[in-house]
Amino acid sequence: MPRKIIIDTDPGQDDAVAILLALASPELEVLGVTAVAGNVPLALTELNARKICELAGRPDMLVFAGCAEPLSRKLVTAEHVHGRTGLDGPVLPAPTMPLQSQHGVDFIIETVRKQPSGTVTLCTLGPLTNIATALQRAPDIADKIQEIILMGGAYFEVGNITPTAEFNIYVDPEAADIVMKSGIPVVMMPLDVTHKALTTRARIDAFRKLGTPVGTAVANLTDFFERFDMEKYGSDGAPLHDPCVIAYLVKPELFKGRNINVEIEITSDLTLGMTVADWWGVTDRSANALFVGDLDADGFYALLAERLARL
Ligand code: RIB
Ligand code: CA
Repeated sequence: MPRKIIIDTDPGQDDAVAILLALASPELEVLGVTAVAGNVPLALTELNARKICELAGRPDMLVFAGCAEPLSRKLVTAEHVHGRTGLDGPVLPAPTMPLQSQHGVDFIIETVRKQPSGTVTLCTLGPLTNIATALQRAPDIADKIQEIILMGGAYFEVGNITPTAEFNIYVDPEAADIVMKSGIPVVMMPLDVTHKALTTRARIDAFRKLGTPVGTAVANLTDFFERFDMEKYGSDGAPLHDPCVIAYLVKPELFKGRNINVEIEITSDLTLGMTVADWWGVTDRSANALFVGDLDADGFYALLAERLARL
């Protein structure tokens, strides 16, 4: 029985690879894709989500627009990483598939209520605004959500948008705080693990060698996406953050983590959006997340190439 998921996303080149991986994996049933403002504004993230679904040959996929702004702060975007369109690299055709008229938050609420309790997993690839808004509007769904697998946070790896905060959490720290205090089982994929999932020339060439429109597009997406991080970190590739969320559901044995308490800084200007991970258990705060710190990077990229070849 495939695992039912909703993908909440702010595409974003790495989001795009994550969505393609999900749509290529028979272990998963994608009930819908909800876009959120993050890397670029909502009008672009919802458009990009539809472009990616059509690239995957899935114009039937339900794509929704969610929240255009964080709960209580001004939107911070990341065009410097993802380009003006949010999906710079390949030229993808304008989508012909429709955007659903229902608000993404209402789709999340309605779907969790309609499906048998404990059978819907939320895979979040961007700021947590849609999820937090859904929990505020419909507190009853917290007990019905099976698990949240989220890309976000950083501890030993420190921040990427400020010295202490990772982008997805920083854009909407209040939303992240609501999610981390919701009682819903959380698997957190922080920069601590995604920075070990670096693209390399060989890994991007493996995508290009697929010789398919998807392989070529993914090679062009990652070619563009890696330039910023390579310059910033002097590394020989860029972290492919969001596909870690999907790969965890398909092949969890690729990852290693620890059940710990993670809280979000929401008051200090200096460390706003920091994920304070009690890795050594020095507080009496109860564990609320599997904080993933390591992965088998070669196995991760082999899975990606094998699955993308199926599209
Ligand atoms: O910090 C990395 C995260 O921010 C990724 O999800 C990337 O797509 C951006 O949303
Ligand atoms: Ca993202």
